[in-house]
Amino acid sequence: MSELVLQADALRKSYRMGASRLEVLKSVSLTLQRGEVCALVGSSGSGKSTLLNLLGLLDRPDSGRLWIGGKEVQGVSNAAAARLRAARIGFVFQQFQLLPELNALENVLMPRRLASGNWWRRRNAEREAARSALQRVGLAQRLTHKPNQLSGGEQQRVAIARALVCGPQVLLADEPTGNIDCRNGDEVLSLLLHLSREQGAAVLLATHDPKVAQQCDRILTMRDGLLVSSELTQA
Ligand SMILES: Nc1ncnc2c1ncn2[C@@H]1O[C@H](COP(=O)(O)OP(=O)(O)OP(=O)(O)O)[C@@H](O)[C@H]1O
Ligand SMILES: [Mg+2]
Repeated sequence: MSELVLQADALRKSYRMGASRLEVLKSVSLTLQRGEVCALVGSSGSGKSTLLNLLGLLDRPDSGRLWIGGKEVQGVSNAAAARLRAARIGFVFQQFQLLPELNALENVLMPRRLASGNWWRRRNAEREAARSALQRVGLAQRLTHKPNQLSGGEQQRVAIARALVCGPQVLLADEPTGNIDCRNGDEVLSLLLHLSREQGAAVLLATHDPKVAQQCDRILTMRDGLLVSSELTQA
């Protein structure tokens, strides 16, 4: 039976630029089912990152409604949104966005600390969950490396471990292989899709690469701030 894990209804976002207003998302509605893997494509400037940031609770829409795992997000406090994000959403960025002062293990531990009110009492179990997530991305031997001591592909694998360590319902990825060379990019992408499918997370992944989009179950296309099509692939 399908299970809705994300629902967005008529999301709008605009930016004030001097005297004028730039409408970046015009009215975007979409749903993601448990376990489905969707690509988000569209030309540069069409609004993909803006949409992912709204769905990932990194930014707020001007209007519209959003539900994550059946919980309505509109109107919740910033602190509640941060807890919801840590517990239910994983985000993988093009620029990795690891915290430079923290090693790989501490970076992956971060969402577990944010999601749990009394993490210190459970610190041994939490560290074990972070270590195990790093092991699943093949980095068991790099736990104490800081981001600047890791290759680009390794940094992105730490970011994938961080995104999946709380068992999110939704994984959002914004051009996750955009900053990695081709061969490592293919590996990182396979890992992201394999682990998300294994954990049953719904994935929405922005990409410019048609080969990447074809590995997803469905392709959503944006044009000028609107979702203009949703097509199933042969994957
Ligand atoms: N903070 C901001 N202030 C003003 N305009 C913005 C802001 N952020 C984004 N925009 C504009 O919104 C539009 C959509 O940007 P967005 O980053 O969502 O595009 P994108 O589809 O992710 O593009 P790309 O494929 O290049 O990453 C762009 O025209 C951009 O210039
Ligand atoms: Mg973008």
